[in-house]
Amino acid sequence: MSLPQFVKIVEVGARDGLQNEKQVSLSDKVALVNALSNSGLTYVETGSFVSPKWVPQMGDSAQLFSQIERKDGVTYAALTPNLKGLEAAIAAGADEVAVFAAASEAFSQKNINCSISESIERFKPVMELALANNLKVRGYVSCVLGCPYDGDIAPEKVAQVAKSLVDMGCYEISLGDTVGVGTPMVVKTMLEEVGKLIPMNNLAVHFHDTYGQALANIFSALQMGVSVVDSAVAGLGGCPYAKGASGNVATEELVYMLNGLGITHGVDINKLAQAGWAISDALGKQPNSKVSMALKASV
Ligand code: HMG
Ligand code: MG
Repeated sequence: MSLPQFVKIVEVGARDGLQNEKQVSLSDKVALVNALSNSGLTYVETGSFVSPKWVPQMGDSAQLFSQIERKDGVTYAALTPNLKGLEAAIAAGADEVAVFAAASEAFSQKNINCSISESIERFKPVMELALANNLKVRGYVSCVLGCPYDGDIAPEKVAQVAKSLVDMGCYEISLGDTVGVGTPMVVKTMLEEVGKLIPMNNLAVHFHDTYGQALANIFSALQMGVSVVDSAVAGLGGCPYAKGASGNVATEELVYMLNGLGITHGVDINKLAQAGWAISDALGKQPNSKVSMALKASV
C-alpha cells in the first residue's frame, strides 16, 4: 500500500465552519484564526467575500483579515465567487483566493445563482485579475459524490468541471463531498475518473462527515495518491445551501489518523485541540470531534 509521506492540511474551520453558525463575534473569529496558525497549520481559509445577503456570517471578512496576526509561512485564503469578491479580497490582503463551482446544476443554482457553465464564464475574469495580482487561485467542485437536490452525480461530470477549472488556471482542485454521503470505494471510482484528466498532485479532498465516512474516505483518497486534505477544527462546518450537510471532518481526527499512519503534517495536536475548545466554548457547543473530546478528558 502506498501512502504520501506528507499531507498538506487546508484548515477551513474559520470559513466553512463559521459560515454555518448564526452568530460569532469578530473577536472570537480573530482568536480562532490566530490559534489555528499558532498550531502549525500553514493554510488557513480565513473568510469569504460573498454577498452578505446570501451569507451574512461572512460579512466581516475584511475586518477579520485586518485584525489577525499574520504568521510567516501561513497562507490566509478567502473564497471569491465573482470580481466584486476578488476586489474585496485583494483590498483585504488575502494571500490566495478560491473560486467555487459544482458538479450538480441544482446546487450551482442554489449556491451561486447560476448554471455550471455560467459560473465557469464568471470565474474567467476573476482568474485573470487574480493572476495579474500574483494571487494563486484554488478551485472547489462541490457535490462530487452526490447532491442534496440532484442525487447521484456522474464521476465524468466531476472530472469535466474540475478540468475546466484547471484549464482556466486553478493550481489545485478541492473535490467536495458537500453533503457527506460518499463511501470509500465511491471515492476511489470518482478519483480514478478525475485522475484521467488531472494529476493527483493537483487534487485535494474536502469531506463533510454527515454519515461518519469522512476519515475512511480520506484514507481511500490517500491511497489513491492525494496528499492535500481539507478539514475544520472541532468538526465545524456545513454549507447554508446544502440541506442536511453537517460539519467538515474534524482537523483533530485527521491529525490523529495521520500521526498513526506516520505521515507528517506539521500540526501540534494539543494546540489544535485548544483552538477547537475555545471556539466551541464561544459557540456554546461541544466539539464535533471524538479526538478533541478524548484529549479534553485526558487533560
Ligand atoms: P446574485 O444575487 O446572483 O448576485 O448572487 P448579484 O450580482 O445580482 O448581486 C446581488 C447583490 O449582492 C448586489 O447587492 C451585489 O452588489 C451584492 P445590491 O445591489 O442588491 O445591494 N454582491 C456582493 N456583495 C459582496 N461581495 C460580493 C458580492 N457579489 C454580489 N462578492 C452570488 C450571486 C455569487 C454573489 C451569491 O450567490 C453568493 O454570494 N453566493 C455565495 C454562497 C456561499 O458563500 N456559499 C457557501 C460557500 S460554498 C461551500 O460552502 C462549499 C465548499 O465548502 C465545498 C463543499 O463543501 O463542497 C466550498
Ligand atoms: Mg464545504
